[in-house]
Amino acid sequence: MRGIYFTCILYTLYAFLSVITCCVPMLNNAQATVTSNIPTIARYFTTKGRYEEVNPHLIGDLDAVNTSVLQALSPGCREIHLTAIIRHGTRYPTARNVKKMQTLYNLILHKASGKDSWVREIKDNFDMWYTEDMDGRLVEKGVLDHKHLAVRLSKLFPSLVSREMLRGGKIRFVTSSKHRCVNSTLAFKRGLTDLWSVEEEVEHEVNDTLMRFFDVCARFVDEVDQNPGALAEVDKFNIGPEMQRVGEKMADRLGLPYNLITADMTGAAFHLCAYEFAIKTVNSPWCRLLDEVDAQVMEYANDLKQYWKRGYGHEINSKSSCILFHDIFSRLDKAAEENKLGGPVSEAVSIQVGHAETLLPLLTLLGFFQDEVALTATNYAAQAGRSFRTSRTLPYAANLVVALYDCGEGGDLRVQALLNEAPLTFPGMAAGAAAPLYSDVRRHYLPLLLNCDFEKECRLAAQHK
Ligand SMILES: *[C@@H]1O[C@H](CO)[C@@H](O)[C@H](O)[C@H]1NC(C)=O
Ligand SMILES: *[C@@H]1O[C@H](CO)[C@@H](O)[C@H](O)[C@H]1NC(C)=O
Ligand SMILES: *[C@@H]1O[C@H](CO)[C@@H](O)[C@H](O)[C@H]1NC(C)=O
Repeated sequence: MRGIYFTCILYTLYAFLSVITCCVPMLNNAQATVTSNIPTIARYFTTKGRYEEVNPHLIGDLDAVNTSVLQALSPGCREIHLTAIIRHGTRYPTARNVKKMQTLYNLILHKASGKDSWVREIKDNFDMWYTEDMDGRLVEKGVLDHKHLAVRLSKLFPSLVSREMLRGGKIRFVTSSKHRCVNSTLAFKRGLTDLWSVEEEVEHEVNDTLMRFFDVCARFVDEVDQNPGALAEVDKFNIGPEMQRVGEKMADRLGLPYNLITADMTGAAFHLCAYEFAIKTVNSPWCRLLDEVDAQVMEYANDLKQYWKRGYGHEINSKSSCILFHDIFSRLDKAAEENKLGGPVSEAVSIQVGHAETLLPLLTLLGFFQDEVALTATNYAAQAGRSFRTSRTLPYAANLVVALYDCGEGGDLRVQALLNEAPLTFPGMAAGAAAPLYSDVRRHYLPLLLNCDFEKECRLAAQHK
C-alpha cells in the first residue's frame, strides 16, 4: 500500500517536473507577456473582437500569411480577379455605448462595496477616458488592421494585389461614407503604397448605396430597423434566466443590489473589457466582472441580436444586400468574359470597405453559417455548437474575399471564397475539395442571380399592393 502511494507521489512529481522542463523554454518572455495580456473572455467579444483572436498566428507578426489556405487549388491555376468586402478596423465605442460605460463607472465609483482588489483598482486607478465625441471613430489599431491586411493580401494574391496593378489603375477602392470606413480605406491604400514605395495618388469612390444598402432599403428600415417587434427574441433573452444570472453574479462581485445591474450595465462591462483590450491591448479589471460562462451568455445575446437584425431572422435582412450580391457577380462575369476573349481583366481587384452590417446580410444571402434551428430566446443551451457565431466571423477588419481562377482545363474557371483568410465552403459544394467550378457556384445561386432585385425587395410592403 505504502509503496504504491510513494510511487504515485514520485510519479506525480516526475510528471510535474517534466511539464515544467518541457514547456518553460518554449514560452520565451515576450510570448508569455503577450498571452497573459489576453482576457480569458476575449474569444466571446462578437463584433467587438480583435482580428487576432480569429487568427492567432498574427499575434507577434501582423504580416504572417497562411499560404496553405490556397493549397486546394492545382498549381496550374492562375488568379484573374479578386473582390474583397472588408469591415472597417478597430474603432472607438459609439456615443450611446460610451454613455452606458460612464453610467456603470459612476455606479461602481459611488455605490460598489465589493472587497476584491480589482474593484479597488477600478475605483482608485481607472481613468474614465472614453468621451462621447469619440463616436465610433477609427483608432490607431484600426489603421494597423487595414495596413497589414493589405500587405497580407498582396502576399496571398501576388499577381493581382501588385504594384503593377495598383499603378495601372486596376485596383478599385470603394468605401462607405462613414469616417471609420474612409479612414480604413486610406490605411489599406497606404499599406500598399508604403510596401511598394508608390508616390502617385490612388483614388477611391464613396458609394453608400453599395456599402450601406441597409440605410436605403426602405422595407428593411420599416420592418426591422425601426420596428422594435423585430427583435422580440432579443428582448426576451435580455430579461430571461441566463442574462438575469449574469447580472446577479456581477452585482454580487461588485457588492451592489441586483436591481441596479440591468442588461445595459452587463453590456457596459462587456464593452469596457472589450474596448480596453481591442484599443490598448490591456487586460483590464473590467474583465473581472464577467467569467467565461457569463461571457458565453453575453456572446449569445449579441449573436441573437445580429441574427434577427442582420442575419437569418428576417428575410429582408439578407435581401437588402441584393445590390452588393449583383455587384460582385457582375464583376466576376465580366472578368470571366474578358479572360475568355484572351485579354487581360480590366478590373483585377476590387477592395470594398463597409461595416459588419454590410458583411452579415451578404454572408446570409450567400447561405453561410446557417444552423438548422433558429436562434431564439429559449434555446441558448441547444445552440452551444451553432455556426452562427460573430466572434468568429465578424471581428474588426473581418473580410470576405472572392477570388476567380483560370485553371486552364479548357477554359474552366474556379472560384474560392475566404472569410478572414480561411477557406469557406460554398453551400451545396463538397467541403474540403478543390475550389469549385465557377459555373457550379453560379448555377447554385441562379435563383438569386435572376430574382434578387434590390428595388423590388426593398419596396415597402404597402407599395406592393
Ligand atoms: C492554415 O490553414 C490551414 C487550411 O485552412 C489550416 O488547417 C491551418 O490550421 C492554418 N494554420 C494556421 C497556423 O492558422
Ligand atoms: C481620419 O484620418 C485623418 C487623417 O489621418 C484624421 O485627421 C482624422 O481624425 C481621422 N478621422 C477619424 C474619424 O478617425
Ligand atoms: C454605387 O454602386 C451601384 C452598384 O454598383 C451603382 O449602380 C451606382 O451607380 C454607384 N453609385 C455611385 C454614386 O457611384
